[in-house]
Amino acid sequence: MHLFQSALGLKDLERFYLEVRQTSEALGEPLSDADATVQSMPDASPAKWHLAHTTWFFEAMVLSRHLEGYKPFDEKFTFLFNSYYETMGARQPRPRRGMVTRPALDDIYAYRAYVDQAVARLLTSRPTRDAAELIELGCHHEQQHQELLLTDILHLFAQNPIRPSYRAPAPVSAETAALPALSFTDFEGGIVEIGHGGAGFAFDSEGPRHRVLTEPFRLADRLVTNAEWMEFIEDGGYTTPLLWLSEGWTKALAEGWSRPLYWETRDGQHWTMTLRGFQSLDPTTPVAHVSYFEADAFATWSGKRLPSEAEWEVAAQSLDVDGNFLDLNRLSPEPASPRKVGVQQMFGDVWEWTRSPFSPYPRFRAVAGAVGEYNGKFMSGQFVLRGGSCATPPGHVRASYRNFFPAHTRWQFAGLRLADDA
Ligand SMILES: [Fe+2]
Repeated sequence: MHLFQSALGLKDLERFYLEVRQTSEALGEPLSDADATVQSMPDASPAKWHLAHTTWFFEAMVLSRHLEGYKPFDEKFTFLFNSYYETMGARQPRPRRGMVTRPALDDIYAYRAYVDQAVARLLTSRPTRDAAELIELGCHHEQQHQELLLTDILHLFAQNPIRPSYRAPAPVSAETAALPALSFTDFEGGIVEIGHGGAGFAFDSEGPRHRVLTEPFRLADRLVTNAEWMEFIEDGGYTTPLLWLSEGWTKALAEGWSRPLYWETRDGQHWTMTLRGFQSLDPTTPVAHVSYFEADAFATWSGKRLPSEAEWEVAAQSLDVDGNFLDLNRLSPEPASPRKVGVQQMFGDVWEWTRSPFSPYPRFRAVAGAVGEYNGKFMSGQFVLRGGSCATPPGHVRASYRNFFPAHTRWQFAGLRLADDA
């Protein structure tokens, strides 16, 4: 099969599986059954659903096909916890995932334990290469849902008038030094290679590696900050239609957008909802929770533009995949370092909107069968985001990693970096 290139030996795979499963349960730990059951909007899913769906993925894609004599934990769970796999049958409609008050959260943890035991049995029984690859895919899949669990909980808690904290408020960062002025690094462009081509796991949509032509370009050395976004607002950014794409302007009017998703003003002070509760807005941190439409309008207002995904990847290819990811437990983007020279914040903090539609690379083919539904069928009407965020598990992203969301999406940790023609 080898559609998702896998690199792990069985021992490493076992370790990876345990680590991923434990991380999900640690993320669920601060949540009550009620917290984990409510669905705040059709785009978001209950935490309980994430914990169950990732488990169902192992059950349906791996255990039912590759572990002899495996009996599903509960036959009804395929209907409840299938996400979008047409080949796996009918399912609970996405906007109604919050209606599943039963099974209870404890039942879902029992389901997880049952499946974990079965996966452990499979791993010690010399699984086929196909089975091992599917387990590895299931781990990366679960990591994607770990980030969604957090962004969905943030959205849910932001609807609650008492603004609960998912994690205790963090001590204020000692680093309050002024940010570096916005500067740009030049790239000469030409025919460059992008896409996954090396060893190690990658999703199918990251390849094949191929050549692209980029004109000479410049990329901002850091992300756009809250202070810069404030200037955009004060200069009429949300009330000047000439800055906006038509579809974005219509959406902004319809939804009453006047600032990023979680910003609020109280007594002349700016605040924002975070996973650590309601906090005063730090002007030096990267702006987050903006749509593609807002990011594009900001870039137009700046006299710049968003980078293409190829430009972003060319700049990222030589860098270590290092940054403010989930393991640092900050759960919010952090300011750029005034001491670093050159391009920084490429990995972690916030996903960076690119101007590139999520479409197949040359010679991409979705494979037959259920896992072929993973990425390929979403290649319309979405834009690519790069680099990962403060809610992305470490090790999950790469320079070639392509996240994607519709242009109006705001509840992810999404921000932007400016680019320009050189
Ligand atoms: Fe999923």
